[in-house]
Parts: sequence; structure tokens; C-alpha cells
Amino acid sequence: MADTRAIGVFDSGLGGLTVLSAIQRILPNESTVYLGDTARVPYGTKSPQTVIRYALNNARALLSFAPLKMLVVACNTVDSVAHEALQDALSIPVVGVIEPGARAALSRGNTRSVAVLATAGTVSSKAYEHALRKQGFTGEIYSQACPLFVPLVEEGLIAGPIAESVAKHYLQHLPKQVDSVILGCTHYPLLLPLLKNTLSTSPQWIDSGNEVALAVKNELEMRNLQAPSGEGVTRRYLVTDAPTRFEQLSEFYLGKPVSPRNVELVDVGAGS
Ligand code: DGL
Repeated sequence: MADTRAIGVFDSGLGGLTVLSAIQRILPNESTVYLGDTARVPYGTKSPQTVIRYALNNARALLSFAPLKMLVVACNTVDSVAHEALQDALSIPVVGVIEPGARAALSRGNTRSVAVLATAGTVSSKAYEHALRKQGFTGEIYSQACPLFVPLVEEGLIAGPIAESVAKHYLQHLPKQVDSVILGCTHYPLLLPLLKNTLSTSPQWIDSGNEVALAVKNELEMRNLQAPSGEGVTRRYLVTDAPTRFEQLSEFYLGKPVSPRNVELVDVGAGS
């Protein structure tokens, strides 16, 4: 039996739209409800306890706004500390970004070293290290927190002298030879052209959006939860603050415009 319930996707703000874009491209028959916690972004500098509280709060709110068949955590910072808590609290499957990203980084088979670029929260959680080791990786792992990347992307400064000098500042710490670089924050795919230009070598760049969408497809098939093909696909966008800003910026992240009538301002409560 086809399942018409939507897939819930959430992030601290706009970055998760890069993951949603891949889900909508790979699974065009699936309805989606996206929640961007624009009132409380950024999460990357907050404590694990606060991020877990916000994550549970957002997930429960999403479930109260729409019947969902799956939850996608489109935020590395959340997934790195709250994946287990979310799966324990919810009766629907939870798909995160860390595990698919780590798998993609090792997909070529001859990877000897991996670099992880992420928020301070994701780096200090060591979630990527754990995921890579769990998949049997024994090579070198370098992690670099890049706290200025999110504000750069939020300001649309993805090229030019300021962005170049920030990218140089962070990437100079990476060793010369690195096989895969994981873009461990859903904002970072927008910086990819800049990052490629900054590094003199050509590693495999991992944008986990695609991998997450494939993991979602796989889960839906395994659990027999696919939507019927054809009509009735809905795309809702919920934000906790500044819906007009979301409407203006979302095309930059999603690659296509979002109709203002699909954007709703919601209250997810304070969380407890
Ligand atoms: N999108 C978040 C992530 O993937 C980072 C943004 C934030 O700091 O809230 O980690």
C-alpha cells in the first residue's frame, strides 16, 4: 500500500534546504515538510544539551503539524549529538546526515585520509570520527571547525576577498594530501566552488545531501513506505521566525523559488 504521509526534514535554519533539494530531486513523488528553526539558529555554537532539547522540540512540533512517515535530520550539528535521542523518542524512522556522509567519504575504497569541515559542535562531538571508524576506516582523520562559514553563507558571501581569506584561514591547517573532504555542515555545499579554488589538490568532496536522499529512498523501499506516483505531492516550509527572509533566501539554497503561500510561521514552543 502506498503511503501518502510526508517526509519531515528539519535544520537549524536554511542550510538543510541543500539536503531537501536532493530529496525532492531523487524522490519527486514524496511530499515534504521542512522546518527551519530560524528563531534559534545557529546551533553550531551551542551546547549538546541545548541542541538535543531544540531537536526534540522541533521533531515533536513537526509531527504535530503534519502526519509524517519519516524524519530527516538535515543538520550535522543536531545529528552529531541528538540522533539517538530522536530515534528513542519517535516511532517513525530517523535518517541523519553523518552516517551517509561518512559512507560516501569511503566509497572509493582506496581512501587513506579524510578531512571533516564542520561546525564547532559537530567537531567536538567526534561524530564523524565514530561513524568512519564504525565503517572500518583505519586511516587519518583531520577535523577542522569553521565557525565563520555559516555566517558567510547566510550573508551570501560565497565568493570574493572576504570569503577567500576565511577559506584560506581554515584550509591552511589541512595536510597537503587528503583523499576525501567531508562538507560536514549543510551550509557548506554552497561554498564548494570557493573551497575547490582554495585547495591546490583535488580531493573527493563529499556533499552528503545526495547520500542522505539515497538513504531515505532506501529506507522507504525497505519499509514499504513509498508514496504513489503522480498527483497530490505537497511541499510545505515552516519557519520559527522571519518568513519573508526565508522566502527571499530559500532559492539560493534550494535551487528553485519557494512560493510565499507555502511558507508558514510556526511556534514550536520553548522545548523542555
Ligand atoms: N546546518 C547546520 C549543520 O549542518 C549548521 C548551522 C548552525 O550552526 O546552526 O551543522
